[in-house]
Amino acid sequence: MLLLLPSFSLSIFFLVHFLLYATCYANIPLGSTLTPSNPNATWPSPNNTFSLTFIPISSSFSAAISFSGIPVWKAGGDSGLVDSSARFELQLNGNLRLTNASNSVVWESGTSNRGVTTATLDDSGNLSLKNGSVTVWSSFDNPTDTILPGQNFTTSKRLQSGLYSFVLLQAGNLTLRWNRDTIYWNQALNGSFIGNLSSPSLVLLQVGILQLFDSTLPVPVNMAYSSDYGEGTDVRRFVRLDSDGNLRIYSSNRGNGGSTEGWAAVSDQCKVYAFCGNLGMCSYNASSSPVCGCPSQNFELTDLNDNRKGCKRKVELESCVNSATMLELDHTQFLTYPPELSGQIYFVGISGCRGNCLAPGSSCVASTLLADGTGQCYLKGSGFVSGYESAALPSTSFIKVCSPALPNPSPSTVRPNQKSSRKWPAWVIAVLLVSALVVLVLVEGGLWLWCCRNSPKLGSLSAQYALLEYASGAPVQFSYKELQHSTKGFKEKLGAGGFGAVYRGILPNRSLAAVKQLEGIEQGEKQFRMEVATISSTHHLNLVRLIGFCSEGRHRLLVYEFMKNGSLDDFLFVKEEAPGKLMDWQTRFSIALGTAKGITYLHEECRDCIVHCDIKPENILLDENFNAKVSDFGLAKLINSKDNRYRTLTSVRGTRGYLAPEWIANLPITSKSDVYSYGMVLLEIVSGKRNFEVSAETNRKKFSIWAYEEFEKGNVNSVIDKSLPEHELDMEQAMRAIEVSFWCIQEQPSQRPTMGKVVQMLEGVTMIEKPPVPKILSEGSVRGTSIGNVSSSISALSISGASSLPPSSVSGRNVKTSSSFLRSD
Ligand SMILES: *[C@@H]1O[C@H](CO)[C@@H](O)[C@H](O)[C@H]1NC(C)=O
Ligand SMILES: *[C@@H]1O[C@H](CO)[C@@H](O)[C@H](O)[C@H]1NC(C)=O
Ligand SMILES: *[C@@H]1O[C@H](CO)[C@@H](O)[C@H](O)[C@H]1NC(C)=O
Ligand SMILES: *[C@@H]1O[C@H](CO)[C@@H](O)[C@H](O)[C@H]1NC(C)=O
Ligand SMILES: *[C@@H]1O[C@H](CO)[C@@H](O)[C@H](O)[C@H]1NC(C)=O
Ligand SMILES: *[C@@H]1O[C@H](CO)[C@@H](O)[C@H](O)[C@H]1NC(C)=O
Ligand SMILES: *[C@@H]1O[C@H](CO)[C@@H](O)[C@H](O)[C@H]1NC(C)=O
Ligand SMILES: *[C@@H]1O[C@H](CO)[C@@H](O)[C@H](O)[C@H]1NC(C)=O
Repeated sequence: MLLLLPSFSLSIFFLVHFLLYATCYANIPLGSTLTPSNPNATWPSPNNTFSLTFIPISSSFSAAISFSGIPVWKAGGDSGLVDSSARFELQLNGNLRLTNASNSVVWESGTSNRGVTTATLDDSGNLSLKNGSVTVWSSFDNPTDTILPGQNFTTSKRLQSGLYSFVLLQAGNLTLRWNRDTIYWNQALNGSFIGNLSSPSLVLLQVGILQLFDSTLPVPVNMAYSSDYGEGTDVRRFVRLDSDGNLRIYSSNRGNGGSTEGWAAVSDQCKVYAFCGNLGMCSYNASSSPVCGCPSQNFELTDLNDNRKGCKRKVELESCVNSATMLELDHTQFLTYPPELSGQIYFVGISGCRGNCLAPGSSCVASTLLADGTGQCYLKGSGFVSGYESAALPSTSFIKVCSPALPNPSPSTVRPNQKSSRKWPAWVIAVLLVSALVVLVLVEGGLWLWCCRNSPKLGSLSAQYALLEYASGAPVQFSYKELQHSTKGFKEKLGAGGFGAVYRGILPNRSLAAVKQLEGIEQGEKQFRMEVATISSTHHLNLVRLIGFCSEGRHRLLVYEFMKNGSLDDFLFVKEEAPGKLMDWQTRFSIALGTAKGITYLHEECRDCIVHCDIKPENILLDENFNAKVSDFGLAKLINSKDNRYRTLTSVRGTRGYLAPEWIANLPITSKSDVYSYGMVLLEIVSGKRNFEVSAETNRKKFSIWAYEEFEKGNVNSVIDKSLPEHELDMEQAMRAIEVSFWCIQEQPSQRPTMGKVVQMLEGVTMIEKPPVPKILSEGSVRGTSIGNVSSSISALSISGASSLPPSSVSGRNVKTSSSFLRSD
């Protein structure tokens, strides 16, 4: 017994020592302190992945949890910057506290006397203070600007970076805000969900997917993917709200410590509210980096060392109450986000938008006309004005200044490096100016000579004229090289339309675009430009907007806005390779109506009326909110009239089933031909079946013919898409749509309604009579018919021109029979 005692106490001693050692390693003892002056003192996680220590930030320090030098949590966030005499301590009473010089408290966890017994930083990067096993406080529950894998981000939390914040709403929306209330980015759970979730939480998966969990969701919803998701074994990922107001997913390789961006919430950085400060103007430089400048020479930077701090007027408005004027800024938009959206909106034209702001007594300082087809003009009060300038923006804006208005000389001079030139002595500038002039004269002379000798090769000069055009408000001209670059060498094909293939591209302002490479066009430069001008002056909510074009040598390209949801056919017709993309009734109906409005605009409301000639589901594109946008209008005119073979094939093969009988019967093509095609599309929207589909179910008849027979028998239900749940179907709307479609596909053009009438009928404003039998040409009568006139009819596509076209001017030409072009598709 006496002998046993020493060895027993010895083992107790080792045990205690071992425990003490082990716990010391993982735990942070109460009373521990960190200081910037001792950078070797850190609180590490067990396997050293993360550590808490002071890290230098510019000339100050921040107490931060970091890995490989990347801070993921900072005591006190952005306002926790302290000097070298600071202390970060875990007090004996359990409070975690950051003090600055002279012991002023900068930040504390507020956990004194809450029974904190242990503090640990674990290997996932979470610092937690616990009373036994109960977590009293943790850094994961009090994030600053970063979310790590394993961290549970709920609606009560907020990421903050300067005035920018990121919050998750009860409805599952992810939102980025400036100054707490201006929401400049909002991503909803999905298009159809409206309501509140029970307790949504956002989690970053280690593989690089941002997922939303909620007990009411059957499966977690993927909100964002990092571009490298699922790749790499040794990468750590994190989500950070950066100081530029963008939320990004980063991947960091454990080996080298650097981090790469995998996703950014706002793809166009200039759309981040207040990125360039109050009255600042955001634009992109040649290397696509956002740069901040001032709207005009009536302004100067607030802080010469930081161009993101905004601009101020050189002469304040108070000193020129009666001589204020509005400076016009082309291709410029003043950002307008909710809740501001609901405020000062006017439906006025360009002079109204200028005048309303200038009106005496108005507190308005700037106004912006979106020119996106909505016709809306926003007036900006004296609050905050955030500008965005890009050749791709159709908006025109005005800003109030004291006379005289001094516009910036050209877009390229709104650059921060104006500063540096100021340091140069005057004689250097003089010498530079003189030599620049001499060079200019030489170059001009050279060009002139060269031009005169090679006049047809004007192509490469066109870049010089882009600037002129830019100033006059015409569509943006791109060089072929630029488009080659922005589409990564025409790599990502989005589709192949009747007029050429379409590729995905990223423009210099980082917005997505669809680049269409036109084929078979040998028109003169001048005529091409005229058509482009017509197309781009056609603005409507339901028409795809043309951003720019390229005409260089033989290359003819058109650049359109990018439509996130692709084309209508993807949603109507079930494809084996991509099932489950079906669309609900309300969306279908609003697409039908939107399409009709877009075509009505082309036919009746716009300046140079346009017959589309190729209406089909593939040409109805859908934006992120499933708004219908008609594309490819105005193109039929561009096709080379010499190349009959080409034109006939594209026009006919591309649109089998949608071509009005007059194409086949040598009759003039008018706007009523579009009505026919629209009718077929409308029938397809309701039925989810191609109008020319032939099956046992339809008694071996074309679907459109069979559908009318069923309609006659009163079997409307058999026409309607079976995949539409009955309870969500608006039977009255569906009935109207079916009747309208039969009116549209009447054989006689004069029997068909105009598109304006179609809109009224669909909306239920006009009564619809029972449609007569469409008498669609039977298969037999199409077979063998000459359809060669297609080409010449296109050359007279303006509505007035077409109807006066004598059928005899058409040169008949035998082309393929219907059966052969059906097979060749
Ligand atoms: C800490 O002190 C320094 C100088 O003493 C000061 O510049 C800094 O603003 C202080 N930080 C905070 C957060 O109070
Ligand atoms: C700490 O936890 C214990 C056990 O759960 C509890 O009895 C005690 O009240 C807690 N201390 C404080 C200060 O909350
Ligand atoms: C540290 O621990 C974490 C979490 O357990 C693990 O994912 C990581 O691979 C470990 N790191 C090292 C370097 O061992
Ligand atoms: C996140 O935390 C909330 C509240 O504490 C909880 O209801 C939810 O289940 C957690 N979610 C995840 C994915 O851990
Ligand atoms: C969530 O986003 C959707 C779609 O943008 C929007 O309609 C809805 O109002 C948002 N919900 C909230 C609560 O802001
Ligand atoms: C949208 O969210 C609702 C919410 O429960 C879900 O039922 C529905 O399937 C979601 N739709 C899509 C297209 O993800
Ligand atoms: C969702 O919750 C918010 C705030 O709790 C409430 O104002 C709103 O009415 C709720 N919306 C629905 C559709 O329940
Ligand atoms: C564009 O701006 C960025 C950031 O201001 C700068 O680093 C880059 O050099 C600029 N590039 C050009 C071509 O001006």
